[in-house]
Amino acid sequence: MVITVVGLGFVGLTTALGFAEYGNKVYGVEASADRLGLIQAGRLPFLEPGLDGALCRHLGKSFLPVSPAGLEEAVSQSDYVYYCVGTPYGKDGKADCSYLLAAMDDTVSVISDKRFRVLVTKSTIPPGTCDTVIIPHLEARGVRVGEALGVANNPEFLREGHCWDDFIHADRIVIGVEDSRSEKMLRELYSHQSSPVFCVSRNTGEFIKYLSNSLLATLVSFSNEMSVIADHIGDVDVASAFRILHMDKRWGGSSMASYVYPGCGYGGYCLPKDTNALYAKARESGFDAALLGNVIRTNDRMPEYAANRIISACDRAARSSELGHTTCIGILGLSFKPGSDDVRYAPSALIINKLLEKGYSRIVAFDPVANDQFAAQYGLPVSYCTSMSEVIGCADVLAILTAWPSFFNLKEQTDKPIVDCRYCLR
Ligand SMILES: NC(=O)c1ccc[n+]([C@@H]2O[C@H](COP(=O)([O-])OP(=O)(O)OC[C@H]3O[C@@H](n4cnc5c(N)ncnc54)[C@H](O)[C@@H]3O)[C@@H](O)[C@H]2O)c1
Repeated sequence: MVITVVGLGFVGLTTALGFAEYGNKVYGVEASADRLGLIQAGRLPFLEPGLDGALCRHLGKSFLPVSPAGLEEAVSQSDYVYYCVGTPYGKDGKADCSYLLAAMDDTVSVISDKRFRVLVTKSTIPPGTCDTVIIPHLEARGVRVGEALGVANNPEFLREGHCWDDFIHADRIVIGVEDSRSEKMLRELYSHQSSPVFCVSRNTGEFIKYLSNSLLATLVSFSNEMSVIADHIGDVDVASAFRILHMDKRWGGSSMASYVYPGCGYGGYCLPKDTNALYAKARESGFDAALLGNVIRTNDRMPEYAANRIISACDRAARSSELGHTTCIGILGLSFKPGSDDVRYAPSALIINKLLEKGYSRIVAFDPVANDQFAAQYGLPVSYCTSMSEVIGCADVLAILTAWPSFFNLKEQTDKPIVDCRYCLR
């Protein structure tokens, strides 16, 4: 089968290479010249274990990355067009679907034959988007949805840092589809792999993705609120309390337990925007989602709470020793989670901004993989170090903001005050 994948980010590049691995011919269309250039040269634009091997195996053979100028040729040969473009924060927390609609406009404008194709949204879109936004949008352009084209969604559940494994060994494949021709084509596309495939209504397909991300966000916010309660009560070993909580047999050793652990707030591209988008969608539909709203508010408060913990440690350090200079804060970890160089909506950026606002102008930082991405994305007045030991040498107070395993033994390397915002120290 021939497939066009539009957008070669974490989801799109993984999807394109995954379908190539299943034996299909895949065109990948990417609008960013920098990102496309790297991919065409056989290099990943981000850190993602396993994806490099797949790129090497399929590039120029079953995977053909092209610029938008190549869209017409790609679509003319394809039965499926997959959309993996961003759906960022929009107005009032809503999902901004403008990149998706623009990519669909580009697609329909290059179709000149009568072949039936299915347009599949893999980007995360709020429930109702296919039916109330995409289909009316296409019909307003004269497209006969259901006759000339099928419209479906196929949400993606991969985790950054595990993209390849999560795609190839997906625990479930969800397809939101309502016409039998598209359903048959999509079932056929996934027929060579062993994951269970669930065909549901388009709204249900879209909803399942938000159901999943809202649960993860709720687990994180629950844990963060519990850690703050414990701090207020005092003399509670928060890390031990949560590790012992995980020993409850009912978790069954599930990695879901990793979300039931405190930190300095969830970040990354998905949880912040998806929780806000579902909250906005619920409100628009006439329901004020109290729990979800509080999950978001609890998360929004965490960066300030973490910054205040760091400031208290700075105050204590300044009182107990005659520093004789402005306190230097050493930040360990910038990416939104360990195993990834993604810094989008990373709590570290929010915390550093709070520290700068409160006058802490001497900040040094180190991340094992994300220094450059962080510097490029945020442009903050921070000095970047090339190692953990360099940060230890420069700083008066250390703060762990990402739970990289290489930071776990920090206590063995220094007597300086440490604020473990990820509760990861051994
Ligand atoms: N990152 C994740 O972990 C993850 C997981 C599941 C779902 N999602 C969802 O998948 C979608 C994509 O996320 P991502 O992290 O891969 O985003 P990303 O920003 O890494 O990638 C999107 C890519 O699309 C490209 N693009 C935009 N418009 C284009 C166009 N018209 N033609 C060609 N290329 C175009 C951009 O240049 C960019 O490279 C989002 O809706 C996101 O919520 C992400």
